[in-house]
Amino acid sequence: MEYLTIALAKGRLAEITMDILEQCGIDCAALKEETRKLVLCDETNKVKFLLVKPSDVPTYVDYGVADIGFIGKDTLMEENRPLYEVLDLHFAKCKLSVAGYPHTNIYDKTKALKVATKYPHIAEKFFHAKEIAIEIIPLHGSVELAPITGLSDVILDIVESGKTLRANGLDILEDVCDISARLVVNQVSLKTKSARIRDLVSKISVLIEG
Ligand code: PRP
Repeated sequence: MEYLTIALAKGRLAEITMDILEQCGIDCAALKEETRKLVLCDETNKVKFLLVKPSDVPTYVDYGVADIGFIGKDTLMEENRPLYEVLDLHFAKCKLSVAGYPHTNIYDKTKALKVATKYPHIAEKFFHAKEIAIEIIPLHGSVELAPITGLSDVILDIVESGKTLRANGLDILEDVCDISARLVVNQVSLKTKSARIRDLVSKISVLIEG
């Protein structure tokens, strides 16, 4: 039997994704071992895991190196690749929001709004639709620092508990959209490994809906 290859996002999604896979009968023991290996296997079930930086999951699935991937909707929107998004997993729920100091006027059209973000494409699209001119300041983390230090006027970032915003004196100014983890499938794999993928998808659907 051919391997089914799964791109797993390292970090905050990893643990819950492994829980779900184990409940579907996939052995994730190799993933839980202390190792620097990036390719791990469940030989019994012929499943291969690729441990991938979250923002790279859509790339691995798009190129067919991985058949399926578990990833946040925020990353999918930002990467905008032609993948089949087959399931909303209803975990890792948060939202994408524009945030800044309270009373920041994002509609002040006299100057371009400086937006610090890990999501430049989403930001371009969101503000373009509102006809707000922006200057993107790309960052890779601790985005809340940007308005505090004067690097930007606002941020566009994920908000989960809201604690990071509150701890830094910032507020949500506008919500962009709700986010949750999604299961994505390579377009060719869905045909060539149809039975295995459909079986896994239906097991996961039962789990998340039950
Ligand atoms: C994310 C996000 C916010 C924070 C939101 O950062 O960019 O900073 O979590 O969570 P909260 O609303 O529960 O406080 P992450 O922890 O991924 O680290 P990063 O800043 O290095 O990207």
